[in-house]
Amino acid sequence: MTIKLAPSILAADFGRLEQQAREALDAGANWLHIDVMDGHFVPNISMGPVVVEGLRPLAAEKGAILDVHLMIEEPDRYIAAFAKAGADRLTVHVEATAHLHQTVQAIKELGIKAGVTLNPATPIGSLEEILSEVDLILVMSVNPGYGGQKYIPASTGRIRLLRRTLDAIGSEAWLEVDGGITPANAAEIVGAGADVLVAGSAIFRGQRTIAENVAAFRSALTGQ
Ligand code: DX5
Ligand code: ZN
Repeated sequence: MTIKLAPSILAADFGRLEQQAREALDAGANWLHIDVMDGHFVPNISMGPVVVEGLRPLAAEKGAILDVHLMIEEPDRYIAAFAKAGADRLTVHVEATAHLHQTVQAIKELGIKAGVTLNPATPIGSLEEILSEVDLILVMSVNPGYGGQKYIPASTGRIRLLRRTLDAIGSEAWLEVDGGITPANAAEIVGAGADVLVAGSAIFRGQRTIAENVAAFRSALTGQ
């Protein structure tokens, strides 16, 4: 299966957001990763449903997935708004969701795919009861809140463990990884069992063009 590349628009130039997202998709990226931060669950504030709505026409034109990562307290309050805005995936944090099972069901009832995610220090076991219910598991490989951080090496073992567990229960959920991913560590992460890679800085920052950055990921993953 081809590995999905999900550029995190948090690292894009917001004055030229549509143009930069388009460039990433034209170069072969598959999903657009949208990081929603509320200033409570994480210190930073980023964007809300209007940004999802603004990218919807581009996603429809390109057949891309809008992958929304909610770093917010009590995400239940906002899932309907994000669904209405056009999110294809909604991922909530286990640490921020009091009734995780209920929230996952509510997301699925809105007709979109439900994901769960967990911070680097949260035990993988906290997902055990929900694994068979979700469409996506997102492994945070940095502490959420900011782009441009370094990949936490212990994440690779966590990805491997989750891959084994998902395979053991026959789950076809996506295993996505988020934070500090570059062409230099992409193969290790995919080798551990990830099938969706989020990358912000490595796609939208630095000296090279967005298209060159996407191509660097693809060549790092050749044969995987
Ligand atoms: C961190 C976000 C990530 C982040 C990824 O809170 O969830 O999506 O922006 O950015 P890089 O690739 O720069 O680590
Ligand atoms: Zn994210």
